[in-house]
Amino acid sequence: MAKYSLEPIKVPKVNTEFRTIQTKLPVPESLEIFNTLSESEPVSMMGQPPVVWDKASGFQVYDKWGNKWIDWSSGVLITNAGHGRKKIIKGLRKVLDQRLLATYVFVHEKRAELTKMLQDISPDPSNYQVFILCTGSEAVENCIKLAKTYAIQKHGPNKKYIVSFQNAFHGRTMASQLAGGMAVLKTWLVDEGKTFVQVPFPDGYKNEDTSFDLFLSSLESQDINPADIAGVLTETYQGVGPDFLPVEYAQKLEAFCKEHDIVSIYDEVQSGFGRTGKMFAYEHYGVKPDLVACGKGISSSLPISAVIGRKDIMGLYGPGSMTSTHSASPLPVVSAIENLKIIKNEKLVKKSRKLGKRSQT
Ligand SMILES: Cc1ncc(COP(=O)(O)O)c(C=O)c1O
Repeated sequence: MAKYSLEPIKVPKVNTEFRTIQTKLPVPESLEIFNTLSESEPVSMMGQPPVVWDKASGFQVYDKWGNKWIDWSSGVLITNAGHGRKKIIKGLRKVLDQRLLATYVFVHEKRAELTKMLQDISPDPSNYQVFILCTGSEAVENCIKLAKTYAIQKHGPNKKYIVSFQNAFHGRTMASQLAGGMAVLKTWLVDEGKTFVQVPFPDGYKNEDTSFDLFLSSLESQDINPADIAGVLTETYQGVGPDFLPVEYAQKLEAFCKEHDIVSIYDEVQSGFGRTGKMFAYEHYGVKPDLVACGKGISSSLPISAVIGRKDIMGLYGPGSMTSTHSASPLPVVSAIENLKIIKNEKLVKKSRKLGKRSQT
């Protein structure tokens, strides 16, 4: 991705219902901010058009100089309930008034409320639990760790492979990139993890074969014995396309995982919380993942992620040994609670299903 030019240019004025452009772009007065960032921050953070977000509401973002845009990025794939929802802000204000800004792993009441809400939308509430983290990558990492821990404890050290898909994106941290399937993102890994294996994604055009045989033959060609697989990690749809797993493939994959006691992991960081017309996209497939990685749209705002998973797998680590300093921090937790209430009360999952149908016609 190229860095955008910081040379202000005259652009046509726009004044429509949802968009206003009334200055040169980038705005000359904003250049000082960009110059400070160029000096103080790596260039990796400069991949977006040079717009300074000052205010956001619904699907719109505003700068300080009278310009207004439609946020097609949805912040990116976060604002499932919209930017700056008042109910989320009201909930956050209450926590601010309590001055409860950090709790480490000490209990606060809202943590119980959120884990229960997420448990209630899990594949099987009486048999699933919820662990809260901060980012999608962390949630994916945790799923990988849990799958490997389960496999090694139950079956021994040979059951060690994590199988994922070519072109998959699971985040930018070490294990999530080892599991990711974009070669261009993995060059820094040099000696790639020997227990991470990728197979072709059955998208129907990069790989015409969309049958599950492709999965099996690809494992065979890489000398991977199904009994040695700890976990299979997939997105329901690959964001790069978007490319969707065929239903029959997903169901065969589930049967394969059951047959070989492999932990099935769905990365719903991007696809969860109503984005595809179901609360979670795996629901389109009639499958029950063992572990689900969530993030982004969970809060429509503050950084929070979660792993929702089978109780027997989630319980593999004893008290104090699967935590993070900012796990279930009060403000992000409340933002997620209020967001989930909005999604439920405003029937946003059903709404997205309806809108999805309209955009197909
Ligand atoms: C499918 C998927 N998984 C994981 C991640 C990583 O999430 P985060 O950027 O919050 O670490 C992303 C982010 O784009 C994603 O789209």
